[in-house]
Amino acid sequence: MKVLVVALLCLVVTSATVKFNWYEVIRVYPKTSVQLNFIRHLEHSGKYDFWKTAATKGFADIMASKENMISLKSMLRVTGIRYSIFISDVQGKIDQINAIPRKEAGPKSSRYALTWDNYYQYETIREFCYALAQDYPDLVTLEVVGTSLEGRELVLLKISSGGEGKPGIFVDGGIHAREWISPATVTYMMREMVENYAAHPEVVDNVDWYFMPLINPDGYEFSHTDNRMWRKTRSTTSIAGCYGADPNRNWDFHWAEGGTSSYPCSEIYTGPVPFSEIEMANVRDAILARASQLRIYLTVHSYGQMLLIPWGYDAVYPEDYPELEELGLAATDALTAVYNTKYDVGCSGVIYGPAAGASDDWNKGVAGIKYSYTLELPDNGRYGFLLPATEIMPVAVETWEFFRVLAERISAN
Ligand code: ARG
Ligand code: ZN
Repeated sequence: MKVLVVALLCLVVTSATVKFNWYEVIRVYPKTSVQLNFIRHLEHSGKYDFWKTAATKGFADIMASKENMISLKSMLRVTGIRYSIFISDVQGKIDQINAIPRKEAGPKSSRYALTWDNYYQYETIREFCYALAQDYPDLVTLEVVGTSLEGRELVLLKISSGGEGKPGIFVDGGIHAREWISPATVTYMMREMVENYAAHPEVVDNVDWYFMPLINPDGYEFSHTDNRMWRKTRSTTSIAGCYGADPNRNWDFHWAEGGTSSYPCSEIYTGPVPFSEIEMANVRDAILARASQLRIYLTVHSYGQMLLIPWGYDAVYPEDYPELEELGLAATDALTAVYNTKYDVGCSGVIYGPAAGASDDWNKGVAGIKYSYTLELPDNGRYGFLLPATEIMPVAVETWEFFRVLAERISAN
């Protein structure tokens, strides 16, 4: 009995990290509507991890274990759907990336541990936010807008040089846990605006910025400690024994329509009701509290190198789509000019594929923020979510231009 108890305790304490030995990621290209429906059907089954959903024109990226991949590939052959190998051994890729020697690059501070040559856990990002607020009280105001299910702070930093009547821009990152480049890039934007204010004061002077760099901290932490491929929150609302809802299918606008699943084990599970996830309810309230000031909502994801414009619940264009596209093209053109990284700009439901209940749609459709966007950071077809930390600086530097143009354009009109 005693032995059993000790053995059980050990099991609990050393909860091992999930390994992805010989998991494969393939890119599939459905061409006909029958093929597309077949791929969508596979996504809803919850048996596969869709790194990217299937768009009407384009491709889907699907991860599966070796065994599941054998049957998946034979189904693809039977249905005549073409595919190519994206990553042939996910664990091998993870190990290979972890072994890349860390090249010191980018800014550093004696006031906090965060740097941009490595990915960091929640606590380091939180401390960075507090350090910025403490060291630059004239520019930065920190507010905790609530906590996550597991009790982590949801930190909101307002960056402003004061004054009345400025347009507001709200930016969030880390809604999907495994998209590590998102909080890394968003924190760089915050640092650049504050610590390097003198180099480009207009970026801050003409706008009030609201940053929430990590809005799914429980999922993010879990992706560091237990499962590198974790996407969702960590709630336990289900009876199916599966954890979490997709925080970007949980917003109350066309909730549970296309590109979602009501199956709790699915990666695109809507949650039991809109805003069931406390983190999203807290972010919603933080946005509503300042909605009348906000002109731009930007949620930062990876991967795919796309700027997605509403609507995303279906292939439907809002009336003012041309205006959103114009601003989006100006900002991505400036980004591309840095290292020639190409972005696709388009209507989300068309170029990405339908996904209802996402934050961008809610912010436009309910909060009334005209310019609402989803930014899908790099890369596109090499590492996917596993982007090496050596890429943080190039991505951050080019994305800065995108932010700069948003500020410039929104304050001019
Ligand atoms: N990668 C994002 C997701 O799957 C895209 C969301 C785009 N926006 C939308 N309303 N569908 O959540
Ligand atoms: Zn995402």
